[in-house]
Amino acid sequence: MQKYKIAVIAGDGIGPEVIEEGKKVLSGIAKIDGGFEVEFTDFPWGCEYYLREGRMMPESGLSQLKSFDAIYLGAVGYPGVPDDVSLQGLLLKIRKGFDQYINLRPVKLLRGAPCPLKDVSESDIDMTVVRENSEGEYANVGCRLFPGTEQETALQTGVFSRKGCERVIRYAYELAKKEGKSLTNISKANALGYSMVFWNEIFAQVGKEYPEVPTSSLMVDAASMFFVKNPKRFQIVVTSNLFGDILTDLGAAIAGGMGLAAGANLNPERKYPSMFEPIHGSAPDIAGKGLANPLAAIWSVSQMLDFLGQPEWGEKVISAIETLLLEKKCLTPDLGGTAKTNEIGEAIMEILQRK
Ligand code: NAD
Ligand code: IPM
Ligand code: MN
Repeated sequence: MQKYKIAVIAGDGIGPEVIEEGKKVLSGIAKIDGGFEVEFTDFPWGCEYYLREGRMMPESGLSQLKSFDAIYLGAVGYPGVPDDVSLQGLLLKIRKGFDQYINLRPVKLLRGAPCPLKDVSESDIDMTVVRENSEGEYANVGCRLFPGTEQETALQTGVFSRKGCERVIRYAYELAKKEGKSLTNISKANALGYSMVFWNEIFAQVGKEYPEVPTSSLMVDAASMFFVKNPKRFQIVVTSNLFGDILTDLGAAIAGGMGLAAGANLNPERKYPSMFEPIHGSAPDIAGKGLANPLAAIWSVSQMLDFLGQPEWGEKVISAIETLLLEKKCLTPDLGGTAKTNEIGEAIMEILQRK
């Protein structure tokens, strides 16, 4: 029987609370299906580990993860450890080290999910953001000059390689072609005269190979405005690392909130494991209280199932989330309910077992 080996890094804050629910759903599905098994291996890495060991994961961390079929991650970062240390030492190290250059983030308003926008229906908010995930503004190349003096200066250089831009843009074109959708390129060439001009050139060059894909291009500032004023104009979106980060929190806000936003960090060649996570952080303000919404973590299980070759289950998980939202009987406080985090996984399984 097919066995999927899943590395679990529950991480910090609400990470372990939401991941527990996702594990319930994934193992529950394997049991119903009967055709595959899942085996979880927990890695206790994160800020508590850092405070004990002086690092976010062992030096051999990546080699320990390498043989898994997928990584399931909760959240990283907590007060007490500087955010640049915690994120660079774990989450970003895995994204870069495993060349997970695609960050696929659905922004899809399910029926029953709250939406702060007026006069929009579910079909108006249904896009996939393809975020560059390996370089760009996140390359973290730079330095501090003249520390401690009046001239103190920080340099932070973006790295936009032809290979790096081309592969993510090509991925987005392929996705748009496969799904028969339009593709919107979001950049900022009016102000960023090197990186974004190059990005746009590559978008145009690659586009010559996809005459069937309707395209448009927007500056990121205007795109942010249209996410709110006219989200319907977006189907597939491709953008850089930082712009994709910011736009997808905005995307979460219009599509039900942080509790419903998932992301897949993909190494499409499958040379390395891909990583699935809710896009929210460790939410220290609500951690440890059973208030966190685990539906984003459960949605990322759906993305994992798609990637592992079980797309029917991927779809069923989304539809079970939608049923839960419509029935409104078992929702966490961010969605207006009174249910606790640890009730949600079971509620999703109950829906999946119906009929
Ligand atoms: P956050 O996403 O943790 O929280 C932002 C707000 O959204 C908070 O009010 C929080 O309570 C709410 N929220 C988030 N997820 C929720 C959920 N599942 N259910 C209900 N409410 C939810 O962002 P932040 O406060 O900027 O960051 C906190 C820490 O997490 C920082 O250390 C940051 O660096 C880290 N972070 C990690 C990741 C990650 O691991 N992928 C992502 C973002 C932030
Ligand atoms: C996300 C997060 C990360 C990012 C942080 C925690 C480094 O905000 O996954 O969206 O910026 O990519
Ligand atoms: Mn983010």
